[in-house]
Amino acid sequence: MKLLITGGAGFIGSNFILFMLEHHPDYDIINLDKLTYAGNLENLVSAAGSRHYTFIRGDIADAKLVHDILDTRVDAVINFAAESHVDRSILEPAAFITTNILGTQILLDCAREKRVGRFIQISTDEVYGSLGPSGRFSETTCLHPNSPYSASKASADMIAHAYYETFGMPVMITRTSNNYGPYQFPEKLLPLAVTNLLEDRPVPIYGDGMNVRDWIFVTDNAEAIDLVLHKGKEGEVYNIGAGYESTNKALIDSVLRLMGKPESLITYVKDRPGHDRRYAIDPSKIINELGWSPRTSLDQGLKATIDWYSTHRAWWDRIKSGEYLAYYEKNYAVKGLKGY
Ligand code: NAD
Ligand code: TYD
Repeated sequence: MKLLITGGAGFIGSNFILFMLEHHPDYDIINLDKLTYAGNLENLVSAAGSRHYTFIRGDIADAKLVHDILDTRVDAVINFAAESHVDRSILEPAAFITTNILGTQILLDCAREKRVGRFIQISTDEVYGSLGPSGRFSETTCLHPNSPYSASKASADMIAHAYYETFGMPVMITRTSNNYGPYQFPEKLLPLAVTNLLEDRPVPIYGDGMNVRDWIFVTDNAEAIDLVLHKGKEGEVYNIGAGYESTNKALIDSVLRLMGKPESLITYVKDRPGHDRRYAIDPSKIINELGWSPRTSLDQGLKATIDWYSTHRAWWDRIKSGEYLAYYEKNYAVKGLKGY
């Protein structure tokens, strides 16, 4: 099989490429990535030498480039490329609309024209909006996105689905809960907390810390996407979640315990505007229909993640400078956290 993976230099995309090269060593993988602040080729140094892996720097919205790539007889497109951070979407929404909506539509058009056999749109549980204290998101839950990020992802989902209904395109959508693991950019809660704690810096918790997220180790998500690629049914949505719900406060408490750091390093800061209270995924469909199940417990995954960031300091040291500091200042100064 020959795969076009977009956004493969980001967190989940790079983990997925490494997973696929290991589990399908005869597949050819093209990684198309614009290398925004979140794209990092260091994530893929172990893939770079493989004759089955090619990197192309470019934009999913560049139709000419995408056409040229698809002309090399690609069997499937897996679209990870996106602006992915909610807080950035609150500060500057424009890029989210351009890449997540327009970019996806252009990619769909190209794939349609070249009659690509499978198209997987990588989406998020955030498109469903916020839950009360009980219940879980199923694939039929109404979409109710609340942030510019989730609204842009929901739009892309609906366009992708429309291409299935209207043009008979072989589209599938995965909606995953919060991923964590190696190579995650340290603007997201877990890598931000772990790397700050490794430097004995405070961990900012938004609001009362009682917002709930449903955590999945990134390799378990990669395995689920691999299953959807091979066994998924065209036109279907698959929720992917491991069932590890936690409040942000409880999650950070576990990290503090595992790292042997004091609770005094938690700093409560002003809440995120429009902050969704609770996400929880019902993954029964992918479990029952495709035979997926998560392998990594939250405790195992947290230990592995802390271990990875502890032993890959050079990776995040290089990131936590320049643009990162400017963003950190912009996001956290208004929330009342002084300095990095
Ligand atoms: P990320 O921000 O780490 O990586 C995104 C990648 O896309 C980067 O390498 C970036 O350079 C690239 N990119 C951005 N704009 C592009 C463009 N116009 N053309 C080509 N490449 C471009 O994101 P991630 O956390 O790896 O998320 C990957 C996908 O999974 C996204 O679609 C996101 O919405 C979705 N998702 C993420 C999570 C999560 O917890 N991280 C959960 C559910 C769904
Ligand atoms: P995040 O990692 O940004 O993922 P998402 O918003 O897509 O779920 O945030 C996870 C949760 O952690 C979310 O409820 C917001 C909260 N959070 C903090 O409390 N402090 C932080 O510094 C960050 C980045 C997030």
